[in-house]
Amino acid sequence: MKIVIGCDHAGFGLKNLVIDHITAKGHEVIDVGTNSTASCHYPLFADALCKKILAGEAELGILICGTGIGMSMAANKHKGIRAACCSDTFSARLTREHNDANVLCFGERVVGAGLALDLVDAFLGATYLNNGNHVVRVAMLGDIEDSNL
Ligand code: RB5
Repeated sequence: MKIVIGCDHAGFGLKNLVIDHITAKGHEVIDVGTNSTASCHYPLFADALCKKILAGEAELGILICGTGIGMSMAANKHKGIRAACCSDTFSARLTREHNDANVLCFGERVVGAGLALDLVDAFLGATYLNNGNHVVRVAMLGDIEDSNL
């Protein structure tokens, strides 16, 4: 798959680890930065990442900040983006299967390196269950976006 990844200064420590991990599994990675621990603003990187997905340049995205929360808030401002902030592998899998999440967010100050890679594996390894009420509910998310422009 083509995966886009981004972080802020507080997530930079995990980003290259995740890139190496998913590259070794055969995924193609687009890195939208940041590229150091110098203080920066997470919405910029969430926006850059979401634009790659919405332009069709990547299928799924991974965003890392201190908590994962700011990144998920910023990503979910984009129509067509369904970002989930996860710190357990059950949620990381289910958000692909049930919510058709296209962006995984987590916090470097929340999860360790081992759990971070497990979250990534759970998310990338899962498939949206494209049937029944899941489809109805994901469509409803889009309807809410359209009625609150
Ligand atoms: C940066 O200090 C921190 O606020 C940011 O990485 C993130 O956790 C925000 O949600």
